[in-house]
Parts: sequence; C-alpha cells; structure tokens
Amino acid sequence: MSKPKRYTITTALPYTNGPIHIGHLAGVYVPADIYVRYLRLTGNDVAFIGGSDEHGVPITIKAKNEGVSPQDIVDKYHAIIKQSFVDFGITYDNYSRTTAPIHHETASEFFTTLYNKGEFIEESTEQLYDAEANQFLADRFVVGTCPKCGNEESYGDQCENCGTSHNATDLINPKSALTGNVPTLKQTKHWFLPLDKHEAFLKEWILEGHKKDWKPNVYGQVKSWIDDGLRPRAVTRDLDWGIPVPAEGGEGKVLYVWFDAPIGYISSTKEWAAREGKDWEPYWKDKDTKLVHFIGKDNIVFHCIIFPSMLKAEGSYILPENVPANEFLNLEGNKLSTSKNWAVWLPEYLKDFPGQQDVLRYVLTANAPETKDNDFTWKDFQARNNNELVAIFGNFINRVVVLTNKYYEGLVPNPGAFSQEDLDALAAVKAYPDVIASSIERYRFREASQELMNLARLGNKYLADAEPWKVIKVDAERTKTIMYVALQIASALATLSEPFLPFTSEKLKGILAYTKNSWNDVSEKEVLLPAGHEIGKAELLFSKIEDTTIQAQLDKLEASKKANEAANKVVEPQKDTITFEDFTKLDIRVGTILEAEKMPKAKKLLVLKVDTGIDVRTIVSGIAESFKAEDIIGKRVTVLVNLAPRALRGVESEGMILMTESADGKLVFVNPDTADVANGLQIS
Ligand code: 2FM
Ligand code: ZN
Repeated sequence: MSKPKRYTITTALPYTNGPIHIGHLAGVYVPADIYVRYLRLTGNDVAFIGGSDEHGVPITIKAKNEGVSPQDIVDKYHAIIKQSFVDFGITYDNYSRTTAPIHHETASEFFTTLYNKGEFIEESTEQLYDAEANQFLADRFVVGTCPKCGNEESYGDQCENCGTSHNATDLINPKSALTGNVPTLKQTKHWFLPLDKHEAFLKEWILEGHKKDWKPNVYGQVKSWIDDGLRPRAVTRDLDWGIPVPAEGGEGKVLYVWFDAPIGYISSTKEWAAREGKDWEPYWKDKDTKLVHFIGKDNIVFHCIIFPSMLKAEGSYILPENVPANEFLNLEGNKLSTSKNWAVWLPEYLKDFPGQQDVLRYVLTANAPETKDNDFTWKDFQARNNNELVAIFGNFINRVVVLTNKYYEGLVPNPGAFSQEDLDALAAVKAYPDVIASSIERYRFREASQELMNLARLGNKYLADAEPWKVIKVDAERTKTIMYVALQIASALATLSEPFLPFTSEKLKGILAYTKNSWNDVSEKEVLLPAGHEIGKAELLFSKIEDTTIQAQLDKLEASKKANEAANKVVEPQKDTITFEDFTKLDIRVGTILEAEKMPKAKKLLVLKVDTGIDVRTIVSGIAESFKAEDIIGKRVTVLVNLAPRALRGVESEGMILMTESADGKLVFVNPDTADVANGLQIS
C-alpha cells in the first residue's frame, strides 16, 4: 500500500435532462465512490468532486419540448440527481452545478486567461444555420451522417455510434433537429482552441508517458484521435443558454458546453474549499496531487485531449494522472436509452428496493463494463443477491453473530491454542487488504469485489469445516477458539466491505460494535475483536429476492418496449389510387356477433355467426389469438359482406370482419361507437 497522498477525484458531471440510470452508475459513480472510500480508509486526503452539467443543447431542447425554461429543467433534475446520489451513498465532498455563480465566474476567468494569453484563434467561419428557426445549428441542433462511421443519426458535435467528436460542418447531409430543414451556411465569429498546437505535448504526455498505466480502451481511443490529426475546435457557440463569452464581439454567444463543463470540476472544488475553510489550489495545482477523472467512454476525448489542452494552455494546473473510463452497460441485451425509457432509473430503484442500495452497487461492480460493454439482467441481479450476498456473505455473518450470542451471550470468547486451520485462516485474512487494494489501485473494481467475496467465502468455509455447532457438544474450549477466529474474519469483512457495500459495512460494524477501524488494521493488528468484547444481536444483512420482484421489473421493461414499438410504428404508405366506382363495389355493413366458437385444431381461427342486418351468416375470422370466443358475443362489428365466399378448414366463410391494431399491437374491432346504429346499415 502506498504512502498517503492528496487526491482530487472527479466524476463526469451528468446532464440535468433526466435522472441517473444504471449505465451512469456502473460506468462512473460506483467505481469512483469505491475508489474514494478506499482512499479515505487508507488515510489519504481526498476531494471527491461532482456536480450537474446544466448547459448544452439537450437541455434547451427538453425545455422547448416541455414548454418550460431551461432553468426549470435544470432545477428539477439537479435536485433529483443530487438527492439520488445521497440516497445511494455516493459520498461527494461537494456536488455543485454549472449554473452556480462560482462556476460562471471560474469558467469566464479561465476563458479570459486563455484569451489574454493568445491561446485561441479568433475566426469568422461559415456555420450551419436554420433560416426558419432563425438560429445557428450547433451540436445537437443538427443531425447528419457521421463522416467517420456512416451513422446517419450523428449529432453535430459527436457521433454516439463511433464516439467520434467532430465539427457540425463535417456532417454529411446535415438536417436541422428543429425544423428538419437542410441548413444553409452563414458567417459567424468564434474562438477556437488550436488542438494541433498541443499535439506534441499530448503525444509525449499520453502516448509515451501513459502507455502502461492507462486502460487500453482509453489509450487506444486517444491514440487513434491523435493519429487522425488534431484540428482547432470551436469553444464558443451561437446560443442563448450557457455562459456568455467574455470577449469583445462575444455578445449573443456562449461558451461551448464542453469548454465550461470540465471547468465545473474546478469550481465545485472551490465551492467545497470555501465552505470547509480550505485552500482549493493545492487540489488543482500542486504537483503532488493526483487528479483522476472517472468517466464513460463517450467522454474520453474531452477529458484526455481537450480539457488537458485547456489546462496546459492555462499553465498553472496539474494534469490527470489517470482517466479510467469504462465502456457501456447494456440492459437485457439492448443499449440503455433515456429517450426510449430503456433503463433502470436510480430514483425508481431506490423506491422499489428500499434499503437495498448495496445489492445494486455490488451487482454493478461485479459485472462492471471495465474492459468491454456488459449486460445487466434482472436474473443476474437476483442470482448475485441470492447466491452471493445472501448465501455467502450474509450467511457467514449471521451464523457468527447468532452463535456468539447463543453460546457466549454476545461476548467474544477467549481462544485456546490455534490449530493449523485457524492459523491458515487468520493468515489468509491478513493478506486481503493488500490483495483488494492492489486491484482497486489498478482500477479493477470487478476483481476487487470478487476478492472481497472470496474473503466471505473463506469465512463461510472455515465455519462449515470447523462445525462449531457440532463441536460445542463435545469440546467447549475448541468451540471458543473457532468462534474467536470466525469473529476476527467477520470484523475484517466489516472493514474491507466498506468501499463496495457501505450500508452493509455500517450495519455490520453496528452489530459487531466495531467502530474504530482502518483498512490497514486488518493486516497489521494482531486482534480485531478482543476476547471479552461484547457484540450486538443478529440482524439480516441481505434478504432473498423473489421471482415475483424480478418479474415486476421485467414487466416494467416490457411496457417500455411496447410503448416504444407503438411510438415507432411505421405508417404504411398509401396504396394505389382507386376510383369511386371501385369503392362503391365494397359493401360494408354494421353487424353484431351472435355466436363464436373456436375452430377445432386451428390456433388462429374463430367461427362466428354474425347478424349482418341482411342475414345471419358464418364468418371465419383469424382472431383467436387475440380474443376468447365467449368474450366477443354481442360485439358490434364492421363487416365486408360481399367478399367472395371461401372455405377455411372446410367451413365456408361469407364475409370479413374489419379489424385494426391498438398501440401495443393487439387486434381491435372496428366498430360503431354507438349502440343505436342498426345492423345492416351501410358504411360509405
Ligand atoms: O456526457 C455527459 O453526460 C456530460 N454531461 C459529461 C460532462 S463531464 C465534465 F466535463 F463535466
Ligand atoms: Zn460515427
């Protein structure tokens, strides 16, 4: 374990246009919180910095769609996001927002410093413009084909398919997201950060300096960017939502959201330091501080190329020591999507699974998309809870606490001589802090979480092999030693689980009455719970998750899928024109179903007797998968009566019942909406 240091740990500032979902949690917030909790437990000085990203086009689009102001949108989601992080146990030292005055000042100042240093290129260029909307089309206001991968729905600033970040004018076949119009070009002045000027520094710093310690997915993306050649990037926009450009000629323009957002890390640190009576500068300017950005893979270029170029250009800041970006998490085989409501939303999870934050934290860690995209499934969630948290961790602790209370009234017994098994178990426990730390320090949180579970397994196996519940009948002294060893393992778990399962760790420390602890105690202290120490009563740490609970979540997703299908249903193109005479050949009447029965051995067919007003006739209809025969007797229907009769499975059908489909794809009858339309009336 390394010497204590100062750390500034940042997490991507989420856009405040929706709540947090499991993709954000698995990719960014859970690993960052594990890392920070571990750093604190090992005695480091940590500033854990977060906040909301409240500028940018998606927020203005959402505001427009909802007929409210962008400020209304960001106020609403900032509050929701901030609270859900607290409830989920993400232990920020400060959670700020980019509409805060301190941020506007900090970002303005940062821009001004670069401006005064001549670090920008000021240039009038032709930008995409929507004349009808009377607006320049920056970023997400424009959609077109990605010049790199051919994705036809790339945004102006970034393609979500291949992750490339580009200029809006690079798009092939651009279209305005506001009106659908093909944009025109119009002159406008902007300030550009000449990334090409920083290429040599980026090559040396990342390509040479961080080849070994940065994750291959991060390093690879940066390398491919640099290999493609860096170009100047506009850092201002013609928009009215954002931080006004503090430069001559900047009226009516704002800073590009990706220019201001990462500066949000600095302003949030300032806000924290002011509140705590600390100096913020060492956290950003002292060479001994380790700056680490936790982000998702779509943010790599901004944190590894653009923001470092800004920091370098400013001159007084440190650069990130690492940017451990994760890949994406999918949900039940499909890409997570806010707009398609294909997500597990954090506020909903907290409502549906009260007190079970650690289950989600554990599952997202054990299955984290660290090296490749991964899939979250509710079945896996249930299995990891029931088979690992309940059956291994919870079971071990429960046995230890129950037996200690039962045999010794809650007092840690005095051990006798240790057997080889006892010594092996105690020695193995002492190795865990280093094993887990080594994984955490290399940002391998999945591996770390599995090592923690291995420690619980060790405890479980120790007890199962030693069988104190049997030994107690024959050897009271030996039982004391077994329980003493088991209690030491339980207290090691209480400490080492804290980064991963903070609520459980807290509860377990309460049960064991074991509060004063640090990570290193587990390997360094001879005894964690001394003989004579009194523990509390048993409480369940985890409980089994039933199939019905999982089914309810799957049903929710199914409902989202159906709603999406309905929303995306393609309207069939119009058929070839017919004449009025053609139409009058159709004889369509109002009728009533009098009888209905299933056609034997035919899955889809019902045999109906229909009163058409002209007669009562037999019609065979392919609706048996949507309706039960008994449910449609008496149903008013619309019947094409002069369709040539045809035999279906030997039954002659004399007409056709007109049907359509409901939003969720179910068949529905086309019927008159009043009962006083008589059978036989013609529809024309
Ligand atoms: O991708 C996003 O959700 C961005 N709002 C992340 C910003 S990270 C930082 F730079 F603020
Ligand atoms: Zn692309």
